[in-house]
Amino acid sequence: DPGSDAEPTGASDGPDYGLVQDGTLTACSDIPYPPFEFEGGDNGTGYTGFDIDLLAAIADKLGLEIAVQDVGFDALQSGTTLVSGTCDIGASAMTITEERKANIDFSDPYYDSLQSLLVPVGSDIKGISDLDGKIVGVQQGTTGENYAEENATGAQLLQLPSDGELWPAIQAGQIDAILQDQPVNIEHQKNDPGYVVVEEYNTDEQYGFAFAKGEKLELQDAVNTALGELRDDGTYQKIYDTYFSA
Ligand code: ARG
Repeated sequence: DPGSDAEPTGASDGPDYGLVQDGTLTACSDIPYPPFEFEGGDNGTGYTGFDIDLLAAIADKLGLEIAVQDVGFDALQSGTTLVSGTCDIGASAMTITEERKANIDFSDPYYDSLQSLLVPVGSDIKGISDLDGKIVGVQQGTTGENYAEENATGAQLLQLPSDGELWPAIQAGQIDAILQDQPVNIEHQKNDPGYVVVEEYNTDEQYGFAFAKGEKLELQDAVNTALGELRDDGTYQKIYDTYFSA
């Protein structure tokens, strides 16, 4: 009887990844974080950027729609937001760290990154050794915050929840410098010639997509497979060139 193998009515044909919402890959991200995630684009989520476009391409390979939720980075990087079931995957320029692996499973790395110091043009700050007594803005819960804590010991740190708050803070003169992922500071410098990246720190960071530890193993596998295919078929490079062409 050919009918006996039929799936129950309403079942989707694809594998069940235990998604928050059937048929949709729901991502959590902390926005704005240009060029990785920011408002705009035409994929229906309201957001675009390197992470978002790459995720959309992955979702496409998996036969899924995408949705994006803008959440706070600190709770996302600690695993809280992922474990609570707000989303299936974190797509937030999140560096793969041993500490985070206690609560998070990471995809294969998808972007190599580093830290940097951004100051107003004409500042007497030329590098990290000039930060004694200065106020350095960092984003809460980030590797940039860690780097500043360990290496700018004479500085006063101002931890803000979002990069979207660091930028107005430096423009208002409330902070003297921003220590942040280099591609993000470079983007600020591109958008406003009054600011310049004066130093870079080779922290050998790699970004990964994030999953609640042990809870999304099939999805994690599928994402890694899709990522590999996107590298092989040139899609990854195309998206990369959109945001990082020289
Ligand atoms: N790469 C840094 C980290 O993992 C900063 C990421 C912040 N991402 C964001 N979308 N706000 O700590």
